[in-house]
Amino acid sequence: MEELPAARLCLPTGSTPKPVYELAAEWIDLSRAEVFVLDEFGLPPTDPSRCDAMLRADLLDRLAKPPHTIETLNPQALDLGVECTRFACRVDDGGLDLTMLGLGENGHLGLNEPGSDPQSATRRVDLHRATVQAAARYGPATQPAWGLTLGLREILASRRIWLLVTGAHKAQILERVLTGPIGPDVPASYLREHPNTVILADESAAAGIRPS
Ligand code: PGA
Repeated sequence: MEELPAARLCLPTGSTPKPVYELAAEWIDLSRAEVFVLDEFGLPPTDPSRCDAMLRADLLDRLAKPPHTIETLNPQALDLGVECTRFACRVDDGGLDLTMLGLGENGHLGLNEPGSDPQSATRRVDLHRATVQAAARYGPATQPAWGLTLGLREILASRRIWLLVTGAHKAQILERVLTGPIGPDVPASYLREHPNTVILADESAAAGIRPS
């Protein structure tokens, strides 16, 4: 049998990728893939709203052929700086073939909040109020105030990026991402400088984009 090509994938959690995972879980073979979980909330390991728990529940635990390895950021690590460097080194050691991302209503990617520049490395971040409010939808037992995230530096070094955007509540920020100034106020705007980014938006999210 022909061997499937190996792939290094970075996957997001949250509401946006859920329907994609729902469909993919039925057929996708990740047995030769290394999966990196994009980010993690500063929540206890047992909280089902942690990103690793959501990705397992929405996709990984449902696969007939689960990934070869799953790499996560551990918010319980004693030294978070060392933990973030460890994760970034694992990513850098071969890079990422594909990073899938959702879009925060405040323009964040992963937990790279407004103010993040393209050189921002994998690190601990304090969450913006909008992100804490959005995370409440996932139903955490406690509200996360901080998290760990793959840096914009590592995201933008991915060979391919897919940005998934769904829902009318994302229309305004998507328009800003595509037509506003490129800069740290809207971290997702840096995707316009990436050579191989695809934006997959549904009709409601794309409502503000006028054909030019
Ligand atoms: P959502 O989150 O998919 O739950 O809307 C996206 C994000 O904050 O990156």
